[in-house]
Formats: sequence, C-alpha cells, structure tokens
Amino acid sequence: MAPSVSELQEQAAPTTTASAREGIIEAIKKEANLQADKGPSYPFYLPTFNNDEKWPPIEIFEHSDPGLRADPSKPNLLSANTKTRDFSPYIGTELRGVQISQLSPAGLDELALFAAERKVLVFRDQDFKDLGADRQIEIAKYFGPIHRHPTSGNVPGYPEFHIVYRDANHDRFREYIGDDRASRTSWHSDVSYEKQPPGTTFFFILDQPEGAAGDTLFISQVEAYKRLSPEFQKRLEGLKAVHSAVAQAEFSAKRGGPVRREPIESTHPLVRKHPVTGEKALYINQGFTRSIVGFKREESEYLLRFLFDHISKGADFTVRASYEKGTVVVWDNRVTVHSATVDWDVKQGERRHAIRLTPQAEQPTE
Ligand SMILES: [Fe+2]
Repeated sequence: MAPSVSELQEQAAPTTTASAREGIIEAIKKEANLQADKGPSYPFYLPTFNNDEKWPPIEIFEHSDPGLRADPSKPNLLSANTKTRDFSPYIGTELRGVQISQLSPAGLDELALFAAERKVLVFRDQDFKDLGADRQIEIAKYFGPIHRHPTSGNVPGYPEFHIVYRDANHDRFREYIGDDRASRTSWHSDVSYEKQPPGTTFFFILDQPEGAAGDTLFISQVEAYKRLSPEFQKRLEGLKAVHSAVAQAEFSAKRGGPVRREPIESTHPLVRKHPVTGEKALYINQGFTRSIVGFKREESEYLLRFLFDHISKGADFTVRASYEKGTVVVWDNRVTVHSATVDWDVKQGERRHAIRLTPQAEQPTE
C-alpha cells in the first residue's frame, strides 16, 4: 500500500532541505493519483513537523492596536459596493465586495476596528489564498508580530503559518480531541497561554470537503460577560487565571512531534478589557485555562466549571462561520472563543486544508 499522507509527513519531519520536501510533496501527489484524488490544491502549504526547530521564549513588545487609529465610519473598508450581513446582533458579519489584499493602511485599521466590534468577520470571494506567502504574512503582520506556533505543522522557512490539515489518512485534530469524548466541541481562544495572546486573527481556506461541513463556531465572550448579574460580575473583577501551554506540548511530544519552545504558563485577568472598544469580556477558555489564582483547587474548579458551562450554553450568542472557495475569516481572539466542528468523516480523496496567521496583541488588562 502506498504510504499515507501522515506517514509521508512524519518522514518529512526531520528534514529541512528543499529537495527532501519536494520529494515528499511529489509522493503525496502520487498517493493522491493512486486514489483517483487530485491531491491538495496548495501543496506548498502542506504541514511539516520539524523536531529540530528550537526557539527562545517570545520577548515582550509594545503593541498599539491598529483599530485605535481607525475612522469609526470605516470609509476605507466599507464602500457602496460592499454588502454586509450580520449573523446575530452580538457577533459575526459576512462581507462581500471588499478585497482584503487591496485595502490601504487606513482600510486595515478599519478592519481591526470592525473585527473588534463584530468579533468575527467572514470575507467572501477573496484572492488571499493566491497572494503568495510573503504578501499574506505582510498583511497579517500589520496587526502585530505573527505568532510562531510551538507544536503545529508549519512550512519550512515560514514558521508564521499555522497549518490545519485533515484527510482520510491524517487526522491529528481528532487525535488531540480524543476518541473517548461524546462531543467533539472544543472551545478555546488561540494560544491564550502567551504573555501577549493574539488579537486580530486570519484564517483562510485552501481545500474544503464537499457539502456543508467543517464550519467554525464562535462565541462572544463580551455577551457571555454581560449575561452575568452585576453582583457576580463584581466577584469576577480582579481575579486572575492561569493559562497553560503544557498539555499541548505534552501531546506533541507524546506523538513524536516538535516542541519548538519551552511551554509556558501565563496569568491573565479573568475579565479583560478590549483596548479599542473598551468592552469587557470573559477571558478564560477550556482549551488552556487551568486555575484561578489564589483559590483553593476545589474553589477554582467550581468557578471555572460554572463559567465554562455558562459560555458553552450560549447558543444565543454563538455563530457559525461557513467556508466557500475564497473565504477568509478574521476574528478577534481577545473577545471570542471558537471551536472547530468535526462533523464529517473524511472520505478518501477529501481534505480540509486551511491556514491561520495569528498576530499577537497587547498583554491583557482589566
Ligand atoms: Fe483555534
């Protein structure tokens, strides 16, 4: 039997040379042909896991959010040709008739503001996937230094790309979630364990399975906070929570994957204020938040369990971003949690392939 994509990628893991990588890509194409599958549309972005990559800790930097400079009426983002449709009053807007790659700096400032206000923007019909790696990174970098993920698949020479890839032979996401869970929903805010976690985040789709599948769910953490009583809100103010990268690093190490940076733990306010809108949001997530500072273990578990439950029950402040060819989803990781929906069984020849670019923002403040 031909080697699977995952086997090929594992073979690729310790290699960094261009010719070795080319060989792997050719082998993946050959495997696709054997299965009457046209193969990935963008083989350049196939994930590589190089265990030799080692990076120092991320240094603290000054962040001034582009949204602070934006004209609130957004004349450079929203023109007469732009059609917008809100998914819900609290969160999510779809945009057609605007091309991210054509936006001026003023337009990008307005994009940051709009993403902060609406939490999730779904841009349709974008040329973003075809701009090339350098230009894609250049655009995302406007919003902050791009996070380099310690464990996920990336592209040699471009550690800024966080690759999401799933096909019939390669299902790392499902491995991570585990087969012993009744639900595959996994609410999180990306890499919230960093000292300066991400703000305006870009996600673009390269290959998508047939039919309605593989959407991303988003919850407004601003609305989740607002639903709590003033008395309860008062109790939460001033609390801090520990966010940890340890479990993610352990998972990668266990499967023989990279741990490019020593896993860290950070302490962030449990209620966070957005630097542009001034809105307060819950800043905890099941993916990475582990405990409340100063609480005994039972107290911490009790409060976090209540809050995780409260957030995940928020169907009335949750939206679903779907993908079409050319869709780019931009979300503000400071005021949302999200979950993939693993609602499709991968058939031979089908794949989901997407890229995240994750600019880091300010240190969270109350
Ligand atoms: Fe995510």
